[in-house]
Amino acid sequence: MKILVTGGAGFIGSNFIHYWLKNHPDDKIVNLDKLTYCGNLENLKEVESNKNYQFVKGDICEGELINKVMKGIDKVVHFAAESHVDRSILEPSTFIQTNIIGTQILLEAALKNEVKHFHHISTDEVFGALKLDDPAKFNENTRYDPRSPYSASKAASDHLVMAYHITYGLPVTITNTSNNYGPYQYPEKLLPLAITNLIEGKKVPIYGDGKYVRDWLYVEDHCRAIDLVLTKGRIGETYCIGGLTDDVNNLELIKKVLKIMGKDESVLEYVKDRLGHDRRYAVDWSKAKNELGYQPECDLDTYLEKTIQWYQANESWWKRIKSGEYQEYYQRQYGK
Ligand code: NAD
Ligand code: DAU
Repeated sequence: MKILVTGGAGFIGSNFIHYWLKNHPDDKIVNLDKLTYCGNLENLKEVESNKNYQFVKGDICEGELINKVMKGIDKVVHFAAESHVDRSILEPSTFIQTNIIGTQILLEAALKNEVKHFHHISTDEVFGALKLDDPAKFNENTRYDPRSPYSASKAASDHLVMAYHITYGLPVTITNTSNNYGPYQYPEKLLPLAITNLIEGKKVPIYGDGKYVRDWLYVEDHCRAIDLVLTKGRIGETYCIGGLTDDVNNLELIKKVLKIMGKDESVLEYVKDRLGHDRRYAVDWSKAKNELGYQPECDLDTYLEKTIQWYQANESWWKRIKSGEYQEYYQRQYGK
Protein backbone atom coordinates (compact mmCIF):
# COMPACT_ATOMS: atom_id res chain seq x y z
CA MET A 1 0.00 0.00 0.00
CA LYS A 2 1.20 3.53 -0.80
CA ILE A 3 0.20 6.29 1.62
CA LEU A 4 0.48 10.02 1.07
CA VAL A 5 1.08 11.80 4.37
CA THR A 6 0.69 15.58 4.21
CA GLY A 7 2.44 17.64 6.89
CA GLY A 8 4.64 14.68 7.85
CA ALA A 9 7.50 16.92 9.00
CA GLY A 10 5.40 18.42 11.79
CA PHE A 11 4.79 17.08 15.29
CA ILE A 12 2.02 14.48 14.84
CA GLY A 13 2.84 13.75 11.19
CA SER A 14 6.46 12.79 11.95
CA ASN A 15 5.40 10.64 14.91
CA PHE A 16 2.87 8.98 12.60
CA ILE A 17 5.50 8.23 9.94
CA HIS A 18 7.78 6.60 12.55
CA TYR A 19 4.81 4.64 13.90
CA TRP A 20 3.62 3.49 10.47
CA LEU A 21 6.99 2.39 9.09
CA LYS A 22 7.60 0.43 12.30
CA ASN A 23 4.20 -1.26 12.35
CA HIS A 24 3.62 -1.64 8.58
CA PRO A 25 7.15 -2.12 7.21
CA ASP A 26 5.96 -3.21 3.73
CA ASP A 27 3.95 -0.04 3.06
CA LYS A 28 5.36 2.94 1.20
CA ILE A 29 5.04 6.49 2.53
CA VAL A 30 5.29 9.71 0.55
CA ASN A 31 5.60 12.69 2.88
CA LEU A 32 4.56 15.98 1.30
CA ASP A 33 5.40 18.99 3.43
CA LYS A 34 6.00 22.69 2.73
CA LEU A 35 8.44 22.93 5.65
CA THR A 36 6.86 26.01 7.18
CA TYR A 37 8.30 27.39 10.45
CA CYS A 38 7.28 24.19 12.28
CA GLY A 39 8.09 21.60 9.62
CA ASN A 40 11.39 19.98 10.52
CA LEU A 41 13.14 17.19 8.63
CA GLU A 42 15.30 16.53 11.70
CA ASN A 43 12.21 14.76 13.11
CA LEU A 44 12.61 12.14 10.38
CA LYS A 45 16.39 11.60 10.33
CA GLU A 46 16.05 7.93 11.34
CA VAL A 47 13.83 7.06 8.38
CA GLU A 48 15.54 9.20 5.72
CA SER A 49 17.29 6.20 4.16
CA ASN A 50 14.35 3.78 4.49
CA LYS A 51 13.58 2.61 0.92
CA ASN A 52 9.86 2.81 1.66
CA TYR A 53 10.02 6.48 2.62
CA GLN A 54 10.10 9.45 0.24
CA PHE A 55 10.00 13.17 0.98
CA VAL A 56 8.53 15.75 -1.39
CA LYS A 57 8.83 19.43 -0.51
CA GLY A 58 5.66 21.20 -1.55
CA ASP A 59 2.58 23.19 -0.67
CA ILE A 60 -0.85 21.52 -0.51
CA CYS A 61 -2.19 24.64 -2.23
CA GLU A 62 -0.18 23.91 -5.44
CA GLY A 63 -2.77 22.03 -7.50
CA GLU A 64 -0.46 20.82 -10.26
CA LEU A 65 2.11 19.37 -7.88
CA ILE A 66 -0.57 17.76 -5.72
CA ASN A 67 -2.11 16.10 -8.75
CA LYS A 68 1.27 14.62 -9.68
CA VAL A 69 2.04 13.42 -6.16
CA MET A 70 -1.41 11.83 -5.84
CA LYS A 71 -0.81 9.40 -8.74
CA GLY A 72 -0.63 5.79 -7.55
CA ILE A 73 -1.57 6.72 -3.98
CA ASP A 74 -3.94 4.30 -2.18
CA LYS A 75 -4.60 6.28 1.01
CA VAL A 76 -4.09 9.88 2.11
CA VAL A 77 -3.55 10.90 5.73
CA HIS A 78 -3.94 14.67 5.79
CA PHE A 79 -2.15 16.39 8.69
CA ALA A 80 -0.80 19.51 6.92
CA ALA A 81 -2.22 22.61 8.55
CA GLU A 82 -1.47 25.79 10.40
CA SER A 83 -2.07 24.42 13.88
CA HIS A 84 -1.42 27.04 16.59
CA VAL A 85 -4.41 28.96 17.98
CA ASP A 86 -2.35 31.97 19.17
CA ARG A 87 -0.82 32.42 15.71
CA SER A 88 -4.30 32.25 14.17
CA ILE A 89 -5.30 35.17 16.42
CA LEU A 90 -2.23 37.17 15.33
CA GLU A 91 -2.51 36.35 11.60
CA PRO A 92 -5.55 34.38 10.41
CA SER A 93 -5.01 34.51 6.63
CA THR A 94 -2.51 31.62 6.26
CA PHE A 95 -4.94 29.46 8.26
CA ILE A 96 -7.66 30.11 5.69
CA GLN A 97 -5.28 29.44 2.79
CA THR A 98 -3.70 26.21 4.05
CA ASN A 99 -6.46 24.69 6.15
CA ILE A 100 -9.39 25.42 3.85
CA ILE A 101 -8.08 26.01 0.30
CA GLY A 102 -5.26 23.46 0.71
CA THR A 103 -7.69 20.78 1.91
CA GLN A 104 -10.03 21.41 -1.04
CA ILE A 105 -7.11 21.10 -3.49
CA LEU A 106 -6.13 17.76 -1.93
CA LEU A 107 -9.73 16.51 -2.06
CA GLU A 108 -10.00 17.42 -5.74
CA ALA A 109 -6.75 15.60 -6.58
CA ALA A 110 -7.79 12.58 -4.49
CA LEU A 111 -11.08 12.38 -6.39
CA LYS A 112 -9.40 12.72 -9.79
CA ASN A 113 -6.85 10.02 -8.96
CA GLU A 114 -9.40 7.64 -7.43
CA VAL A 115 -7.75 7.45 -4.04
CA LYS A 116 -9.28 4.60 -2.01
CA HIS A 117 -9.38 6.34 1.36
CA PHE A 118 -8.85 9.99 2.35
CA HIS A 119 -8.39 10.41 6.09
CA HIS A 120 -8.62 13.94 7.46
CA ILE A 121 -6.98 14.82 10.79
CA SER A 122 -9.10 17.34 12.65
CA THR A 123 -9.55 18.71 16.11
CA ASP A 124 -12.01 18.72 19.00
CA GLU A 125 -11.79 22.55 18.87
CA VAL A 126 -14.38 22.60 16.04
CA PHE A 127 -17.02 21.89 18.72
CA GLY A 128 -16.33 25.12 20.63
CA ALA A 129 -16.13 25.29 24.43
CA LEU A 130 -17.68 23.29 27.27
CA LYS A 131 -18.44 24.71 30.71
CA LEU A 132 -16.31 24.00 33.76
CA ASP A 133 -17.80 21.56 36.24
CA ASP A 134 -20.21 20.25 33.63
CA PRO A 135 -20.03 16.52 32.91
CA ALA A 136 -20.77 17.08 29.17
CA LYS A 137 -18.20 15.90 26.62
CA PHE A 138 -17.84 16.35 22.87
CA ASN A 139 -18.98 13.47 20.70
CA GLU A 140 -19.61 12.87 17.00
CA ASN A 141 -23.08 14.45 17.25
CA THR A 142 -21.97 17.67 18.96
CA ARG A 143 -22.90 20.76 16.96
CA TYR A 144 -19.98 22.58 15.34
CA ASP A 145 -19.30 25.90 17.09
CA PRO A 146 -15.71 26.99 16.32
CA ARG A 147 -14.57 30.13 18.15
CA SER A 148 -11.05 30.94 16.90
CA PRO A 149 -9.75 31.52 13.36
CA TYR A 150 -7.86 28.21 13.73
CA SER A 151 -10.90 26.16 14.75
CA ALA A 152 -13.12 27.92 12.21
CA SER A 153 -10.67 27.00 9.44
CA LYS A 154 -10.54 23.36 10.65
CA ALA A 155 -14.35 23.26 10.84
CA ALA A 156 -14.56 24.50 7.24
CA SER A 157 -12.10 21.81 6.16
CA ASP A 158 -14.16 19.10 7.91
CA HIS A 159 -17.27 20.27 6.09
CA LEU A 160 -15.43 20.19 2.74
CA VAL A 161 -14.22 16.64 3.42
CA MET A 162 -17.78 15.46 4.14
CA ALA A 163 -19.13 17.43 1.16
CA TYR A 164 -16.69 15.60 -1.17
CA HIS A 165 -17.94 12.31 0.27
CA ILE A 166 -21.65 13.10 -0.01
CA THR A 167 -21.53 14.95 -3.32
CA TYR A 168 -18.86 13.05 -5.26
CA GLY A 169 -18.56 9.78 -3.34
CA LEU A 170 -14.94 10.29 -2.24
CA PRO A 171 -14.20 7.64 0.44
CA VAL A 172 -13.36 9.73 3.51
CA THR A 173 -13.05 9.48 7.29
CA ILE A 174 -12.37 12.21 9.86
CA THR A 175 -10.90 12.09 13.36
CA ASN A 176 -11.55 14.98 15.77
CA THR A 177 -8.78 14.68 18.29
CA SER A 178 -7.84 16.39 21.55
CA ASN A 179 -4.54 17.99 22.67
CA ASN A 180 -1.56 15.82 21.77
CA TYR A 181 1.76 15.83 23.63
CA GLY A 182 5.03 13.98 23.12
CA PRO A 183 8.36 14.20 21.27
CA TYR A 184 8.97 16.64 18.38
CA GLN A 185 6.24 19.12 19.37
CA TYR A 186 7.13 22.67 18.36
CA PRO A 187 7.76 24.60 21.60
CA GLU A 188 5.01 27.17 21.02
CA LYS A 189 2.41 24.76 22.48
CA LEU A 190 1.86 24.72 26.26
CA LEU A 191 3.72 21.55 27.27
CA PRO A 192 6.93 21.81 25.20
CA LEU A 193 7.01 25.56 25.90
CA ALA A 194 6.76 24.98 29.65
CA ILE A 195 9.26 22.10 29.72
CA THR A 196 11.90 23.86 27.62
CA ASN A 197 11.45 27.18 29.48
CA LEU A 198 12.00 25.32 32.77
CA ILE A 199 15.16 23.63 31.46
CA GLU A 200 16.39 27.12 30.45
CA GLY A 201 15.56 28.52 33.91
CA LYS A 202 12.74 30.70 32.54
CA LYS A 203 9.17 31.22 33.71
CA VAL A 204 6.08 29.39 32.45
CA PRO A 205 3.38 31.74 31.08
CA ILE A 206 -0.10 30.81 32.30
CA TYR A 207 -2.99 32.42 30.46
CA GLY A 208 -5.74 33.97 32.62
CA ASP A 209 -6.60 32.01 35.78
CA GLY A 210 -5.08 28.77 34.44
CA LYS A 211 -8.34 26.90 35.05
CA TYR A 212 -8.78 25.94 31.42
CA VAL A 213 -9.27 22.26 30.72
CA ARG A 214 -7.82 20.24 27.84
CA ASP A 215 -8.04 16.50 27.13
CA TRP A 216 -4.38 15.36 26.96
CA LEU A 217 -3.52 12.55 24.54
CA TYR A 218 -0.07 11.01 24.09
CA VAL A 219 0.84 11.23 20.40
CA GLU A 220 1.47 7.47 20.04
CA ASP A 221 -2.09 6.75 21.20
CA HIS A 222 -3.26 9.16 18.51
CA CYS A 223 -1.19 7.30 15.87
CA ARG A 224 -2.74 3.98 16.94
CA ALA A 225 -6.20 5.51 16.67
CA ILE A 226 -5.47 6.66 13.10
CA ASP A 227 -4.21 3.15 12.29
CA LEU A 228 -7.50 1.69 13.56
CA VAL A 229 -9.52 4.14 11.46
CA LEU A 230 -7.43 3.39 8.36
CA THR A 231 -7.83 -0.34 8.78
CA LYS A 232 -11.28 -0.74 10.39
CA GLY A 233 -13.03 2.65 10.15
CA ARG A 234 -16.31 2.98 8.29
CA ILE A 235 -16.14 5.23 5.23
CA GLY A 236 -18.09 8.47 5.64
CA GLU A 237 -17.73 8.39 9.44
CA THR A 238 -16.23 10.74 12.00
CA TYR A 239 -14.48 9.43 15.13
CA CYS A 240 -13.72 11.52 18.23
CA ILE A 241 -10.38 10.62 19.83
CA GLY A 242 -9.33 11.67 23.34
CA GLY A 243 -6.84 10.60 25.96
CA LEU A 244 -8.39 11.21 29.39
CA THR A 245 -11.49 10.28 31.33
CA ASP A 246 -11.23 12.97 34.05
CA ASP A 247 -10.62 16.70 33.68
CA VAL A 248 -7.13 18.12 34.27
CA ASN A 249 -6.80 21.90 34.12
CA ASN A 250 -3.72 23.75 32.88
CA LEU A 251 -2.52 24.60 36.40
CA GLU A 252 -2.89 21.00 37.55
CA LEU A 253 -1.01 19.84 34.45
CA ILE A 254 1.84 22.30 34.89
CA LYS A 255 2.09 21.46 38.61
CA LYS A 256 2.67 17.84 37.56
CA VAL A 257 5.49 19.08 35.30
CA LEU A 258 6.96 21.17 38.14
CA LYS A 259 6.93 18.17 40.46
CA ILE A 260 8.68 15.90 37.94
CA MET A 261 11.28 18.61 37.22
CA GLY A 262 11.81 19.52 40.89
CA LYS A 263 10.62 23.15 40.58
CA ASP A 264 8.29 25.21 42.76
CA GLU A 265 5.36 27.43 41.83
CA SER A 266 7.43 30.63 41.86
CA VAL A 267 8.25 29.87 38.20
CA LEU A 268 4.63 30.38 37.15
CA GLU A 269 3.87 33.70 35.50
CA TYR A 270 0.22 34.66 35.07
CA VAL A 271 -0.05 36.55 31.78
CA LYS A 272 -2.79 38.17 29.70
CA ASP A 273 -5.43 35.67 28.65
CA ARG A 274 -5.83 34.37 25.09
CA LEU A 275 -8.63 36.19 23.20
CA GLY A 276 -11.78 34.06 23.01
CA HIS A 277 -10.08 31.36 25.13
CA ASP A 278 -12.17 28.15 25.13
CA ARG A 279 -12.77 27.14 28.77
CA ARG A 280 -12.98 23.38 28.57
CA TYR A 281 -12.53 20.51 26.12
CA ALA A 282 -13.37 16.89 26.94
CA VAL A 283 -13.82 14.09 24.46
CA ASP A 284 -16.15 11.10 24.63
CA TRP A 285 -14.25 8.47 22.61
CA SER A 286 -16.78 5.66 23.12
CA LYS A 287 -17.68 5.38 19.41
CA ALA A 288 -14.01 4.70 18.57
CA LYS A 289 -13.87 2.25 21.47
CA ASN A 290 -17.03 0.37 20.51
CA GLU A 291 -16.43 0.26 16.76
CA LEU A 292 -12.65 0.09 16.47
CA GLY A 293 -11.44 -1.15 19.86
CA TYR A 294 -9.64 2.15 20.51
CA GLN A 295 -8.48 2.85 24.04
CA PRO A 296 -5.68 5.20 25.15
CA GLU A 297 -2.81 3.11 26.55
CA CYS A 298 -0.42 5.87 27.67
CA ASP A 299 -1.39 7.31 31.06
CA LEU A 300 -0.76 11.00 31.67
CA ASP A 301 1.66 10.76 34.63
CA THR A 302 3.95 8.17 33.05
CA TYR A 303 3.99 9.71 29.59
CA LEU A 304 4.37 13.25 30.88
CA GLU A 305 7.55 12.07 32.58
CA LYS A 306 8.74 10.31 29.39
CA THR A 307 7.98 13.47 27.40
CA ILE A 308 9.97 15.63 29.82
CA GLN A 309 12.87 13.16 29.58
CA TRP A 310 12.75 13.40 25.78
CA TYR A 311 13.08 17.22 25.86
CA GLN A 312 15.87 16.91 28.44
CA ALA A 313 17.73 14.46 26.19
CA ASN A 314 17.17 16.41 22.97
CA GLU A 315 18.21 19.96 23.86
CA SER A 316 19.91 20.52 20.51
CA TRP A 317 16.60 19.79 18.70
CA TRP A 318 14.59 22.50 20.50
CA LYS A 319 17.47 24.95 21.08
CA ARG A 320 17.92 25.26 17.31
CA ILE A 321 14.19 26.00 16.98
CA LYS A 322 14.16 28.50 19.84
CA SER A 323 17.06 30.44 18.36
CA GLY A 324 15.33 31.18 15.03
CA GLU A 325 11.98 32.70 13.98
CA TYR A 326 10.69 31.58 17.36
CA GLN A 327 12.32 34.54 19.15
CA GLU A 328 10.33 37.00 17.08
CA TYR A 329 7.10 35.08 17.70
CA TYR A 330 7.77 34.84 21.46
CA GLN A 331 8.38 38.58 21.65
CA ARG A 332 5.16 39.30 19.81
CA GLN A 333 3.07 36.85 21.83
CA TYR A 334 4.53 37.31 25.32
CA GLY A 335 6.18 40.72 24.99
CA LYS A 336 9.66 39.65 26.09
P1 NAD B 1 2.42 21.12 13.29
O1 NAD B 1 2.13 22.57 13.25
O2 NAD B 1 3.45 20.58 14.20
O3 NAD B 1 2.79 20.59 11.83
C1 NAD B 1 2.13 21.00 10.67
C2 NAD B 1 2.93 20.50 9.47
O4 NAD B 1 2.23 20.90 8.27
C3 NAD B 1 4.33 21.11 9.37
O5 NAD B 1 5.27 20.13 9.04
C4 NAD B 1 4.19 22.14 8.24
O6 NAD B 1 5.42 22.37 7.55
C5 NAD B 1 3.14 21.47 7.36
N1 NAD B 1 2.43 22.45 6.54
C6 NAD B 1 1.85 23.62 6.95
N2 NAD B 1 1.30 24.24 5.88
C7 NAD B 1 1.53 23.47 4.79
C8 NAD B 1 1.18 23.57 3.42
N3 NAD B 1 0.53 24.64 2.94
N4 NAD B 1 1.55 22.57 2.58
C9 NAD B 1 2.23 21.48 3.04
N5 NAD B 1 2.60 21.35 4.33
C10 NAD B 1 2.24 22.32 5.20
O7 NAD B 1 0.99 20.47 13.55
P2 NAD B 1 0.58 19.21 14.43
O8 NAD B 1 0.42 19.64 15.83
O9 NAD B 1 1.45 18.07 14.09
O10 NAD B 1 -0.88 18.97 13.86
C11 NAD B 1 -1.09 18.15 12.71
C12 NAD B 1 -2.57 18.10 12.39
O11 NAD B 1 -3.29 17.61 13.51
C13 NAD B 1 -3.20 19.46 12.06
O12 NAD B 1 -4.13 19.28 11.03
C14 NAD B 1 -3.90 19.86 13.36
O13 NAD B 1 -5.01 20.69 13.09
C15 NAD B 1 -4.33 18.51 13.87
N6 NAD B 1 -4.47 18.38 15.33
C16 NAD B 1 -3.44 18.71 16.15
C17 NAD B 1 -3.56 18.51 17.52
C18 NAD B 1 -2.44 18.85 18.47
O14 NAD B 1 -2.65 18.76 19.68
N7 NAD B 1 -1.26 19.20 18.03
C19 NAD B 1 -4.75 17.99 18.04
C20 NAD B 1 -5.79 17.68 17.16
C21 NAD B 1 -5.64 17.87 15.81
O1 DAU C 1 -7.64 20.49 21.20
C1 DAU C 1 -6.82 20.18 20.11
C2 DAU C 1 -5.94 21.36 19.78
O2 DAU C 1 -4.95 21.42 20.81
C3 DAU C 1 -5.29 21.28 18.41
O3 DAU C 1 -6.29 21.32 17.43
C4 DAU C 1 -4.33 22.44 18.20
O4 DAU C 1 -3.64 22.29 16.97
C5 DAU C 1 -3.32 22.44 19.33
O5 DAU C 1 -2.49 23.57 19.21
C6 DAU C 1 -4.02 22.47 20.69
O6 DAU C 1 -4.69 23.73 20.90
P1 DAU C 1 -4.68 24.48 22.33
O7 DAU C 1 -4.90 25.90 22.08
O8 DAU C 1 -5.56 23.79 23.30
O9 DAU C 1 -3.14 24.16 22.76
P2 DAU C 1 -2.03 25.10 23.43
O10 DAU C 1 -0.88 24.20 23.77
O11 DAU C 1 -1.75 26.31 22.64
O12 DAU C 1 -2.74 25.54 24.79
C7 DAU C 1 -3.16 24.58 25.74
C8 DAU C 1 -3.79 25.33 26.90
O13 DAU C 1 -2.76 26.05 27.58
C9 DAU C 1 -4.81 26.38 26.48
O14 DAU C 1 -5.82 26.46 27.49
C10 DAU C 1 -4.01 27.68 26.47
C11 DAU C 1 -3.01 27.47 27.58
N1 DAU C 1 -1.69 28.15 27.42
C12 DAU C 1 -1.05 27.99 26.23
C13 DAU C 1 0.18 28.58 26.03
C14 DAU C 1 0.91 28.43 24.71
C15 DAU C 1 -1.15 28.88 28.46
O15 DAU C 1 -1.75 28.99 29.55
N2 DAU C 1 0.07 29.46 28.26
C16 DAU C 1 0.75 29.36 27.08
O16 DAU C 1 1.85 29.96 26.96
